[in-house]
Amino acid sequence: MITILGIESSCDDTAAAVIQDGVLLSNIISSQKVHESYGGVVPELASRAHQQNIIPVVDQALKKAGVNKEDLTAIAFTRGPGLMGSLLVGTSFAKGLSSALDIPMIDVNHLHAHVLAHFIKESKNDNNQPQFPFLCLLVSGGNSQIILVKSYADMEIIGQTIDDAAGEAFDKCAKVMGLGYPGGPVVDRLAKEGDADKFKLNKPHMPGYDYSFSGLKTSFLYLLRDELKKDSKFIDKNKAHLCASLQATIIDVLMEQLRKAAKDLAIKEVAVAGGVSANSGLRSAFEDHAKRYGWKIHIPPFGYTTDNAAMIAMTGYFKYQDKEFCAMDAAPFSRVII
Ligand code: KG4
Repeated sequence: MITILGIESSCDDTAAAVIQDGVLLSNIISSQKVHESYGGVVPELASRAHQQNIIPVVDQALKKAGVNKEDLTAIAFTRGPGLMGSLLVGTSFAKGLSSALDIPMIDVNHLHAHVLAHFIKESKNDNNQPQFPFLCLLVSGGNSQIILVKSYADMEIIGQTIDDAAGEAFDKCAKVMGLGYPGGPVVDRLAKEGDADKFKLNKPHMPGYDYSFSGLKTSFLYLLRDELKKDSKFIDKNKAHLCASLQATIIDVLMEQLRKAAKDLAIKEVAVAGGVSANSGLRSAFEDHAKRYGWKIHIPPFGYTTDNAAMIAMTGYFKYQDKEFCAMDAAPFSRVII
């Protein structure tokens, strides 16, 4: 029996999960509320909160799983990318616990784990995992990538943003409309009541499968600037239409490159991962593509789209089978590509 404890502390969620023989037994997340009033994550406050949360969160994950720490086979932790102070808390904790229990430690790339979240099994009979090779659209606050997934360990980034990430485009445009942070979920909610054809925004024409969102963001800002000169209540009067137009344009951009990649590589198995995959418009676009192009799509449950430790434990489980352990002097890394 292989029992893996996963620990995630890359940004502002302290999380721990237990996976036994590939099946999820517990998945605990403590989200830090302290950042809300600052309009974004404050790194120093995030690491302090991780420090307070990590022991109770791990404790709860073990209790919920009905597992003693002596039963653990290995400890998987997020080594990067992320905020350095936050990563240090999870990494140090993993080192302490693995050394005390004398069990191996497995370092996990957070982005890699987002992709492998599709393999989390909630029960033994859960057999809906993607088949290799498949394409994964990874869209979050910090990344927008198209990844060709050839196996659990072999992933190739075939397209990525050259400037802002899709989540950043949602968040920054939401911020100028006064919708708070993170704005993505608010835009999603308001977009349902708006007309997506009301405003035309710039769409990039990128070669290959890369993305760019900075031109779209600028065209959104210019639209607001010009209209606000004519009517100071423009945003209030058009909030839903602005959100609908913004969301539809971001989704169009994301799907166009993904469609191109799927066609060129003749791949019909397509997955989505990362925080922005919670977006209802993007989920509908995937379903629409499944019908129109015969894609077999994989959309994770909401709990596995944002940062979580289940995906870290799952990745750890695969790495454990390949005996890919890490040394005690492993240091976290803040930036990385897969
Ligand atoms: O993967 P994630 O939790 O962590 C980061 O990489 O930061 O992604 C967070 C991002 C934020 O930009 C947030 O606005 C976006 O995901 N997001 C959404 C939705 N839910 C979260 N964007 C659009 N629609 C949503 N429903």
